[in-house]
This record gives sequence, structure tokens and C-alpha cells, in this order.
Amino acid sequence: MTKFLSKWLRKIHRWIAVPTALLIPIRLMIEMAGTPAVIEFWARWEKLPSILMLFMAITGAYLYLLPYIVKRQRKNRLDQVQKEKL
Ligand code: HEM
Repeated sequence: MTKFLSKWLRKIHRWIAVPTALLIPIRLMIEMAGTPAVIEFWARWEKLPSILMLFMAITGAYLYLLPYIVKRQRKNRLDQVQKEKL
């Protein structure tokens, strides 16, 4: 399960990073120098960067915790093997 989650959450994190990184400067440019028509169009999509950042934060938090999760699982497995030997 951990392998499956880490594989897919890492992929999601990597691929969502691309539109997130593009949208942040695009938003800044529209807000600073957009024409009224572009600003009106953007009003419909302005929540998108925040939603993408939320996905990045959730998947990134899992990636951050992953080494600790793996370490704990390895320790539990070793403890189990040692218990079976006794
Ligand atoms: C918002 C909070 C974020 C957190 C907590 C976070 C956390 C992390 C962590 C822990 C890793 C794994 C590092 C490793 O295993 O060596 C990672 C990888 C990465 N992060 Fe983030 N990140 C965040 C946001 C972002 C953003 C905004 C971007 C780019 C727009 C980004 C781009 C990447 C990329 C490209 C990787 C490498 C993915 C891979 O292994 O293929 N992250 N991040």
C-alpha cells in the first residue's frame, strides 16, 4: 500500500507542479498588467492556483512523511521477525 501511494502521490505531485509553476507568474502578470477583458476572464479561474497548491501541499506532506513511515514499517517488520525467532 505504501509503495502504491508513494508512487502515485509522487507522480501527482510532479505533474501538478508544472501547471502550478506556470499559473503563479501568469496570475501575477494578469493582475498587474491585464486588460479588463482578460481580468474578467481570469475571474472565473482565479481559484485554480489555490486548488493546485492545496494538492501540492497534501501530496508534498505525504512525501515529506514517507521516510518516517517507511522507517517505522521496517522497524515493525524487524521486531516481528525477532519475535518469531524467540
Ligand atoms: C506546498 C507544499 C509542498 C510541500 C510540503 C512539498 C514537499 C515535497 C517533498 C517532501 C518532496 C519529496 C522530496 C524527496 O523525496 O526528495 C517534493 C518533491 C517535489 N516537489 Fe514539492 N512540495 C510542495 C510544493 C511544491 C510546489 C509548489 C512545487 C512546484 C511548483 C513542487 C515541486 C516538486 C517536485 C518537482 C518534486 C520532485 C518530485 C519527484 O520526485 O519526481 N513542490 N516536494
